Amino acid sequence: MNKTAIIRCEHFNAAHRLHNKNWSDEKNHAIFGKCNNPNYHGHNYDLEVKIIGVCDLETGYVIDAKILSDLIKDKILDRFDHKNLNLDTEEFSSLNPTAENIAMVIYNILKPELESSLELKIKLYETSRNYVEYPCL
Ligand code: NI
Repeated sequence: MNKTAIIRCEHFNAAHRLHNKNWSDEKNHAIFGKCNNPNYHGHNYDLEVKIIGVCDLETGYVIDAKILSDLIKDKILDRFDHKNLNLDTEEFSSLNPTAENIAMVIYNILKPELESSLELKIKLYETSRNYVEYPCL
């Protein structure tokens, strides 16, 4: 039976600073540019959570959209929305909060919450022109 994807679009705002503590200030600035600003800066993140699976014969759902929405709210938005990712979250206390790493962290939080038969893909827009996908095979 063919699989179907259901995609839930969400949004959160968060501040971050990209910084590698093993590098000099000059190197950090050269590599991360404005995203290395010591006083942090914000992004309006657009998040797409894609769930892929076979439709349940009884419900016709891959996953109930309400259950998916509640899961993203409880596990992701409540944790990251209006937060300083570096200072306010355990996940990024030592991990650089790049879009790549944020997408990976979101995947790792949500995956264990889903039935193992369901595939999960995360798309995260840091700006309207830059986005990442995880996992990308
Ligand atoms: Ni940035």
